[in-house]
Amino acid sequence: MSAEPRLLSTRAIPAHERLIAALDVPDTDTARRLVRAFGASVAFYKLGLELLMGGDYFRLADELADAGKKVFLDLKLHDIPETVARALRNLRSRRAHFVTVHYDRRVLEAACRERGALGILAVTVMTSIDAADLRDQGFAAGTDPADLVLARAKSACDLGCDGVIASPLEARRIRSAVGPKLAIVTPGIRPAAVADDQRRVATPRDAFENGADYIVVGRPLRDAPDPRAAADAIQETIAGLFG
Ligand code: C5P
Repeated sequence: MSAEPRLLSTRAIPAHERLIAALDVPDTDTARRLVRAFGASVAFYKLGLELLMGGDYFRLADELADAGKKVFLDLKLHDIPETVARALRNLRSRRAHFVTVHYDRRVLEAACRERGALGILAVTVMTSIDAADLRDQGFAAGTDPADLVLARAKSACDLGCDGVIASPLEARRIRSAVGPKLAIVTPGIRPAAVADDQRRVATPRDAFENGADYIVVGRPLRDAPDPRAAADAIQETIAGLFG
C-alpha cells in the first residue's frame, strides 16, 4: 500500500473530527461512561443499532450535541422511499451530522430531498456480503461485490449524497473515481498493534492514505484497557497526516 500515491482527504475537516468512535454498547449509561473515559480525545461519535435498542438513544444524541460533540446516527434506514422521506423529515431537526441509508436509488433520492442539514451516507454493499450472497440475492453469477460498491458509490455521488460507507480497501477506487465530492467514511480499522480475526481491515494511516475522510473505530477503542490512550494514539497519527 505504501508504494501507491497518497490520496489524503482535501476536505476542510478539523483533524480531531476525522476519528469517529462507535458507541457499540447495550445501553446509554455504558455509553456515557465510555464518553467520559474518552474526554476530549474523541469529538465525533457513531450511535448504532445496539444502542438504539437500549432506549434513550436520542436523549444521548442530544446530550452529546449539547456537549459540543458531533453525532453520526447509524440507523441504516431501508424502506420504501415515502417512509424514508417521512423518517428524514422527523429526524432532520436533530443536531446530528450524518445518518446512514441503504443503497437504493429512489430511496436515496427521497432521503436527500428531505435531509435538511443532515448528511446522507449511503451504505453501498455491506462488507459482510460476498459474491455468493449477491448470487443468492439474484445478481448475475460472477458479480463482484467491489464492482457493485464502486457503481453504487458513483451513483450515490450523482444523486447528491454527502458520502458513502466503504471498507478502507475500497476507498482508493472510490476516491479515484469520484474525486473529493463524496465523503468516504471507513469502518474496518485496526491499529497496527492489534491482530485479531478481522481480515478486510486497514490501519488508520492506510485508510487515510487510501482516501478516507473519516475513520470509524469501535472495538479497538471500546475494548482497550485505556480507551482514552487508544484514542489519543490514533489522534496522534491523524495529526501527523493532516496537522
Ligand atoms: O470493527 P469495529 O468494532 O471497529 O466496528 C465499528 C463499527 O463499524 C461498528 O459499529 C459496525 O457497525 C461498523 N462496521 C461496518 N462495516 C464493517 C465493519 C464495521 O459498518 N465492515
